[in-house]
Amino acid sequence: MNHLLSIEELDRAAIERIVDRAERFAEVADREIKKVPTLRGRMVLNLFYESSTRTRSSFELAAKRLSADVVNFSAGGSSVEKGESLKDTVLTLSAHKPDVIVIRTPWVGAAELVSRWCSAAIVNAGDGKHEHPTQALLDVYTLRRRIGSLDGLSVWIVGDVTHSRVARSNIIALRKMGAKVTVAGPPTLIPRQIEALGCEVRYTLDDLHTADVVYALRMQNERMTEAWVPSLREYAAWYQVNGRRLRPRQLLMHPGPVNRGVELSGEVVDSPQSLISAQVEAGVVVRMAVLYELLSGARGETPSPLHPTRSPQPA
Ligand code: NCD
Repeated sequence: MNHLLSIEELDRAAIERIVDRAERFAEVADREIKKVPTLRGRMVLNLFYESSTRTRSSFELAAKRLSADVVNFSAGGSSVEKGESLKDTVLTLSAHKPDVIVIRTPWVGAAELVSRWCSAAIVNAGDGKHEHPTQALLDVYTLRRRIGSLDGLSVWIVGDVTHSRVARSNIIALRKMGAKVTVAGPPTLIPRQIEALGCEVRYTLDDLHTADVVYALRMQNERMTEAWVPSLREYAAWYQVNGRRLRPRQLLMHPGPVNRGVELSGEVVDSPQSLISAQVEAGVVVRMAVLYELLSGARGETPSPLHPTRSPQPA
């Protein structure tokens, strides 16, 4: 694997390989010294043109736990504010010779473009409403840890699917792992032809009780150029996942940040059915596994990340 630009690039075996490796890295998080020397001397550049709490902090922590050097760049406060383009910013920062660039931008396809401009391995940490592959990997990891195999599992993804890169990457990843995916929301927030990704579409939550897992999405107001729903109050009345709609046997997921009182009620966020904190925790080990995969190369063998038998080679 040279880059991670889209979850489409990974087949089921590759997803399983990354998730398996993340499981082995989970042991590091339980140690008193939460660090292994695996990527010592390597450099990870976090390039964030959009706000982020979970993704950015977990990439940083993942790189540090593998002993890599980390440079964090955010567009705010940089020369981007003085008009520097994405290309010039990437070329400038490439002078520091990063081994991996983790990039988040509001532009569809930006990660792919960056992969053509420099020699570093690129990880797409979100490109507009297109893809967010590491979120999908950490969601697969979270579900697998909680319930084992995803084969035959029914997952409902509820909310603003149109503007959600998480929805796209998750539909693709969950289908590859054998789950049955249904997307549900108001017609304005379900993109046309989404069924082509292999999911079913519903415009009401009448059959939500059939789901094993309910995956709620945030209303992506920052990507909306017009009013897509009459009001958040009306949206909540029809589509909020709350104690009345969530059955006790169902698991609840959300990529964060949650807008309490809109897509989820506070009671379900704080309920034992919620996997939201487990998803955040999974973010670190899954991103460790992705960095490892990119810098150590997947060549079939699976050396223990805790006792590496050889130095990582460039991908
Ligand atoms: C998501 C994102 O930025 O795509 N958050 C995340 O990475 N955990 C979802 C969102 O912003 O709603």
